[in-house]
Amino acid sequence: MARGLFVVFEGIDACGKSTQARRVAHDRGARFVFEPGDTVLGAQLRGWLLDASTPMSPVTESLMMLADRSHHVATVIEPTLARGTPVVADRFYASTLAYQGYGRGVDMADLQAATDLAIGGCRPAMTVLIDIDVDTANERRARSAEDRFESADAAFHDRVREGYLEMAARDHARWFVVDGRATIDEVAAVIDERLGALDW
Ligand code: TMP
Repeated sequence: MARGLFVVFEGIDACGKSTQARRVAHDRGARFVFEPGDTVLGAQLRGWLLDASTPMSPVTESLMMLADRSHHVATVIEPTLARGTPVVADRFYASTLAYQGYGRGVDMADLQAATDLAIGGCRPAMTVLIDIDVDTANERRARSAEDRFESADAAFHDRVREGYLEMAARDHARWFVVDGRATIDEVAAVIDERLGALDW
């Protein structure tokens, strides 16, 4: 049986990727997944990861993200793809490279090596980056009850955004950048045109 297609949505907080990822998964009969926190173990990790009142070093943060991912790949993503069902993910390893690597400054080579260990060769066929500037993201976000990442300063989110754009620019075959400032329907149309060319 042919392996299912694996597509990932990435971007800074409030870029609109979750809405688009859920819609694409629904339209394509794919399984929608998200990180961090999409398993019983992951939900516990997500609680710690987002809780701004629990201090955590950047390396600890990275390893907890990777623990969530490793478990998610092994128990959900890989078995689903192996059954021939496509998977659409709201965040995957590029989030760790962008947030913990570019954002927090964790050594990129170390992060890549740890990521390889966590995902065991499970890589997306396509990553859709929904790009918005940090000011637009801030305007969209509810300011109440900010988590560990939402409460980071604008410079952090700028580094994350630039990191995403750099990764996308290095790999045009497997990354696709959409301007996330357009309306939901306009963004959807651009995404559907590009993803329609893939073998679902
Ligand atoms: P979410 O808001 O998309 O559910 O993600 C929760 C936060 O976790 C978001 O601010 C981005 C952050 N994050 C990382 O810092 N590294 C990662 O590897 C992942 C998956 C998420």
